[in-house]
Amino acid sequence: MGIVISIANHKGGVGKTTTAVNLSAGLSRLGYKVLVIDSDPQANATFALGLGKQEKNLYQTLAFQDAISKAIIPVNQLEIVPSSVHLAAFEKNNEIGKEFILQEQLLEVKDNYDFILIDCPPSLGALTVSALTASDYALIVLQPEPLSIQGMTEFVKILRTVKTRMNPDLDILGLLVTSFDSRTKLHKELLEYLEKEYKDMVFKTKIRSNISIPEAQSMGQDIFQYAPNSPGSEDYFSLTKELVARVTGD
Ligand SMILES: Nc1ncnc2c1ncn2[C@@H]1O[C@H](COP(=O)(O)OP(=O)(O)O)[C@@H](O)[C@H]1O
Ligand SMILES: [Mg+2]
Repeated sequence: MGIVISIANHKGGVGKTTTAVNLSAGLSRLGYKVLVIDSDPQANATFALGLGKQEKNLYQTLAFQDAISKAIIPVNQLEIVPSSVHLAAFEKNNEIGKEFILQEQLLEVKDNYDFILIDCPPSLGALTVSALTASDYALIVLQPEPLSIQGMTEFVKILRTVKTRMNPDLDILGLLVTSFDSRTKLHKELLEYLEKEYKDMVFKTKIRSNISIPEAQSMGQDIFQYAPNSPGSEDYFSLTKELVARVTGD
C-alpha cells in the first residue's frame, strides 16, 4: 500500500515543487515505485518533470470523477498525474464533500506504488485540503525567514483541523528547511528557534541554497540528472534517505 505524502505550505516560493520533484526522483533511484500528483493549477511540477500541457490531468479526476489511472503518465522512472490551469475552478465549485474525491480516487491506484507524493498549491483552499485528506503524512517545507515561520504556525492549525474533521490518519512527517545558508546569521538563529520549538520534527537534512536547483528545473530535469555532484543533489539524496528511515521507522 503506497504511502501518501503531501508536500505542503500555503506560502509560495518556499521549495514545495522542488522538493516534490527531487524527492520523487531520489526515491525512484532507491528503487521505489513513485507517483507524483501535481495539484497546483500552476503546473510547476508537471513542467519541471519535462512535460507540457496534458489533455488528461487531475482536473478531470476531481471535477468529473474520471478514474485517476487514466491521467497517469510515465516520465523518466516516475509516473505523474499532471495538473492543469482548470484546477483553479475546483477551488470554487460547490460540490458537497469534494475534498474527499482525491482520497477515494487514490484507493484504485495506491497498491501500485510505494510512495505517492502530492505537490500542493500555495493556498489553504480545497486543493490543499483534498491533498491532506488523502495523505498519510504532510511534509511542511519552509524557508528560514520570519514570515515563513509565522505562516507555518497557521498551517499547523489547519493540519490539526483536517486531522480532526476529515482524516484521523494524517500526521506531520516533518519540517524541511530549504534555501538554507549557514553563513547567514538570521538563518542560523531561525534554525535554532525551529529546532527548539519543534525538536525532532525538523529534518536533520537542510537543503542548501544552490543555483543548480533552479537550473535543473529550467531544463525539465531533476537535480540528480542535471548536476549529480552538486550540493543540491547531495542534500536531496540525504533527505530521501532520512525520509525513508522516518516512514519505515529504521
Ligand atoms: N535550495 C534551493 N536553492 C536555490 N533555489 C531554489 C532552492 N529551492 C527552490 N529554489 C527555487 O525557488 C523557486 C521557488 O521554488 P518552488 O519549489 O517552485 O517553490 P513552491 O513550490 O513552494 O512555490 C524556484 O525558482 C526554485 O528553483
Ligand atoms: Mg509549487
